[in-house]
Amino acid sequence: MLKENFLWGGAIAANQFEGGYNEGGRGLATSDTKTNGSLTRKRKHSFLDEHNQIIYLHESEWISHQYQAVIDQDIYYPSHKAVDFYHCYKEDIALMAEMGFKCFRMSISWTRIFPQGNEEKPNEEGLKFYDQVFDECLKYGIEPVVTINHFDMPIYLAQHQDGWLSRQTIDCHLRYCQTLFERYKGKVKYWMTFNEINLLRGYATLGIHEMTPQKYYQALHHIFIASALTVQLGHQIDKNNQIGMMLANILTYPESCNPQDVALELNVSRRLKYLFADVQCRGYYPSYALKLMEKENIQLVKEESDDQILKNGCVDYIGFSYYNSGVVTTREDAGMALGNGVQMAHNPYLKESAWKWPIDPIGLRISLNLLWDRYQKPLFIVENGLGAEDHVEEDGSIHDDYRIDYMRDHIIEMKKAVEEDGVDLIGYTPWGCIDLVSAGTGEMKKRYGMIYVDMDDEGKGTLKRMKKDSFYWYQKVIQSHGEEL
Ligand code: BG6
Repeated sequence: MLKENFLWGGAIAANQFEGGYNEGGRGLATSDTKTNGSLTRKRKHSFLDEHNQIIYLHESEWISHQYQAVIDQDIYYPSHKAVDFYHCYKEDIALMAEMGFKCFRMSISWTRIFPQGNEEKPNEEGLKFYDQVFDECLKYGIEPVVTINHFDMPIYLAQHQDGWLSRQTIDCHLRYCQTLFERYKGKVKYWMTFNEINLLRGYATLGIHEMTPQKYYQALHHIFIASALTVQLGHQIDKNNQIGMMLANILTYPESCNPQDVALELNVSRRLKYLFADVQCRGYYPSYALKLMEKENIQLVKEESDDQILKNGCVDYIGFSYYNSGVVTTREDAGMALGNGVQMAHNPYLKESAWKWPIDPIGLRISLNLLWDRYQKPLFIVENGLGAEDHVEEDGSIHDDYRIDYMRDHIIEMKKAVEEDGVDLIGYTPWGCIDLVSAGTGEMKKRYGMIYVDMDDEGKGTLKRMKKDSFYWYQKVIQSHGEEL
């Protein structure tokens, strides 16, 4: 059985859901300069392909006009209105309560609290907004689960200090965290430091204008230090705080038993996944990471106390996203499949979503086991789901059986990991429980929700919320504690 207090819920992020980008004293974030766009426009290769022609990350070389630092009035920027949680939060939380949510994973917008990112004093109006959101959740017995930084970077810090490349950004981040921990003490217990820490790249999430491997690892080091200090601070302010990391769980399979494929897969899984969890869960850089940096001639600028900071700042739990698995091969002519943050070879055994992400429920069980075996820390599935186009019938109903199938199959495997393998699992929060803007493509038509939002790719629509078939299905799943699938 799943734990009695298992946290069933759903997940969203501020820049994809909240809107109100220039209300309540909020400052601009880099995500406010991202346009919408098709898959092809946004996908470009990244520097990580230098040792391996097969794997590409998509963010660092997105064409530059995606990242205009000024807002052009003629262009549509999806984050500005998103789906307007800023004004609809009461209705949205009531719908979540109706579905039976035990928790709600959301992120706080940094620039709502510190509009530039570096002020001494926070913006009271921004703090009040989240007070209202948390109070509304708690009214229904919904536990807020808060991501402190979900792909969030104040434009001011990006433009004035190259974001995380500067060590000063750690201080700005800590002031922000201290404000959150003090203000929301007693209301929020579950926190996560950096969303998908292993997918942060380029201007949008790191605030770096021109990316090089040296700059990437230096910025990452600052983020590791910031995360470790956040954990320590959070525990000092409230010993009840549970502070986790958040990993994009990039599950990789070697294409064959050719030892070269297997060795490549080991290398890729370390580079793309384990490095991040090893540092945050064990408190030091693993030897393969040090060697990797040495080989690439990367010289980290560190302060003397950094090693100790990492050691003292290990996370309490591992939150992770899981959407798909990927195949690693040494073959150069392998066909490509896409996926969350990465592009890998096709897996002939798996079907793919309309956005070409392989669908692999068993991979979720495998992932849970791999992470549990390696770290022995409680796990929390904080993102999972199927991005798909939905059709609204004339009577307003939405028959999303494909989404139900996806979720059912994943929950079955999740339960096996707990019930048959003994993994310690805190909860399950499917992604985009209410439709939101896609992070990868800026589209609205790539929907994950159990609740439909009437809004299209150009930002047109009434914003009306409508229950999909998956709403009633997930309601039953929660009511039966995962027994009725
Ligand atoms: C994760 C992110 O990468 O996957 C979310 O944490 C994102 O922000 C989600 O929305 C799904 O990706 P996409 O590109 O379909 O929105």
